[in-house]
Amino acid sequence: MAKRNIITLPDPLLRRSSAPVERVDDELRTLIDDMLETMYDAPGVGLAAVQLAIPRRLIVMDVKYRNSDEEGGEVARAPIAMVNPEILTRSEEMRVHEEGCLSIPEFYAEVERPANITVRYLDREGKQCEMACGDVLATVVQHEVDHLNGKLFIDYISRLKRDRVIKKFVKAAKGEVVA
Ligand code: NI
Repeated sequence: MAKRNIITLPDPLLRRSSAPVERVDDELRTLIDDMLETMYDAPGVGLAAVQLAIPRRLIVMDVKYRNSDEEGGEVARAPIAMVNPEILTRSEEMRVHEEGCLSIPEFYAEVERPANITVRYLDREGKQCEMACGDVLATVVQHEVDHLNGKLFIDYISRLKRDRVIKKFVKAAKGEVVA
């Protein structure tokens, strides 16, 4: 397994739609393992392949590991990889969660999304699966699927706040001092 670089704002790749994965093979499984290692190292609870500059429809998540880590409890990893994920249903009930993104470091904002979803995907063996997701996992799956469509969590906040964040990252990329 190898850690890879995470791209950040304002990299234009983050705004592109990712292409479907055509084959679940050893090469893809290596990419999944690299994504997980990169995510755990960051640390984060989810990562989309496009964040490693690979615009393919592939996401990884682990919402349990981080929680158990923070609580000082036993740390057991529970990685989930979804190839070509497709959200089938979204509940009317919503939940609010303070989100962050490894491609927008050190910025957090509350985002409201459907509280429960079902998602269909291929697992790392290429088997078709369906999962009902609630709580934090529902939020993370929706955040990561958004990445595959070039959408970022800052798209859900006010335009004023979003413009401010983007400006900060554009300046930082140019090497300017950010106040
Ligand atoms: Ni993200």
